[in-house]
Amino acid sequence: MLRTHNCGELTVNDVGKDVILCGWVATRRDHGKLIFIDMRDRSGLAQVVFIPKEAPDAYKIAQDLRSEFVIKLTGKVNKRPANTVNTKLATGEIEVLATELEVLNASLTPPFEISEELNITEEMRLKYRYLDLRRRKVLGNLLLRDKLYRVTRGYLAQKGFIECETPILTKSTPEGARDYLVPSRANPGNFFALPQSPQLFKQILMVSGVEKYYQIAKCFRDEDLRADRQPEFTQLDIEMSFIDEEDVFTLSEGLFSLILKELKGIDLKIPFPRITYAQAQKEYGTDKPDLRKVGAGLKPVPTGKDANTEFAFCWVVDFPLFKFNDEEKRWESEHHPFTAPASSDLDILEKEPQKVKSRSYDLVLNGTEMGSGSIRIHKQELQERIFKIIGIEIEEAKKRFGFLLEAFQYGAPPHGGVAFGLDRLLAILAGEESIREMISFPKTSAAVCPLTGAPSEVDDRQLKELNITIRGRDKKC
Ligand code: AMO
Repeated sequence: MLRTHNCGELTVNDVGKDVILCGWVATRRDHGKLIFIDMRDRSGLAQVVFIPKEAPDAYKIAQDLRSEFVIKLTGKVNKRPANTVNTKLATGEIEVLATELEVLNASLTPPFEISEELNITEEMRLKYRYLDLRRRKVLGNLLLRDKLYRVTRGYLAQKGFIECETPILTKSTPEGARDYLVPSRANPGNFFALPQSPQLFKQILMVSGVEKYYQIAKCFRDEDLRADRQPEFTQLDIEMSFIDEEDVFTLSEGLFSLILKELKGIDLKIPFPRITYAQAQKEYGTDKPDLRKVGAGLKPVPTGKDANTEFAFCWVVDFPLFKFNDEEKRWESEHHPFTAPASSDLDILEKEPQKVKSRSYDLVLNGTEMGSGSIRIHKQELQERIFKIIGIEIEEAKKRFGFLLEAFQYGAPPHGGVAFGLDRLLAILAGEESIREMISFPKTSAAVCPLTGAPSEVDDRQLKELNITIRGRDKKC
């Protein structure tokens, strides 16, 4: 190790110790006879003082330090005189008297000052995201994500879940968005689709007998972007066999109460209130009710008063199975076509599709859809009836999901699950407006990455290998 301590962790208990620190120059103040720097590493800031008569060589080097230079500093921890204590800084009671200084790397002048208050465009922040991430607030968001993952993994492991990866290069999954396609070189004219979710694979894992699956999964959807939508985002994806809705609710409520306790120190009231789709529409005018609010003239739902002051979770249940697509004049799935209908409605599936209730549920937090799931269809015959009603002919269904339908014929257990949008959850926990704040390298709302410049043109040789011609591009391949 090049260092003995972290800058942000030094306290009065370290007074008198010799320390070696490594980090970046955050600020430098030259008082003529003294030079002060604030030195930053991941843990925080420490003030360092250079006094010429104490350490002439270090003082000389310190004269040339600039913001964001990377340094190794040897020194002694001193208590600050009472009138210079900085109560705003965790290390504000101490300072490090420098004895030696080594510049590990110089830095260009950054395009913006790395301070908590920034007045620059998001495009600029994302182009220089590595500098933006040096800010405590943005780094704090990454640390929050890290903690969320650790708490989640611990909880699910303890409940007997297996974390299992599923393919990224795969076939289209019907979550209602456009697919991102990847051309296959080995099979000219054929494309992989990036998964909109691991939905089909997690159901197949149930046929395999995995019984309790989860994955912190990357999902890809080509849709119009908003503050709470990214083209690639992360789901906590869960599937279980031999369960019903209550098992999913209990598992999820236990998880969220642990997350709120560990990440925010909040005791969440469980079970969460449940509200039917019809009730939510009637009383809140939306299927994503914000239980913290009671709109003018709207009655609060009976369980609403029990909802937590700050983090109001609720389940929305009893969704209709189908919705009518006016443009295409056909029924389509409200959730996705693998959702089971309420067993009491099996007789009216074809006769009165508008009346059929589904066994799906959404988890809503403060008016945002946090997650969504359902008890699935596990019999091929019922699956085929649903495809027919939504206008997918059996031949078409076989072409698109034949592998799932086939798997269902080999002893598919009753199963169901849920997926939570972790970027959205994190944004709400951190009090951020946009999920972009919670992602290390997000895309802009125009679906581009200003840091790498992706997406970008590819060269003719690559196109030729893929047997692709770009219309309008001068040179044909
Ligand atoms: P659904 O499509 O509802 O369900 O997605 C689950 C959750 O993922 C989050 N989410 C997004 N977050 C950021 N950017 C996006 N573009 C985006 N799209 C969705 C939301 C949403 O509630 N396979 C099913 C789940 C299941 O049935 O088990 C699914 O993906 O928080």
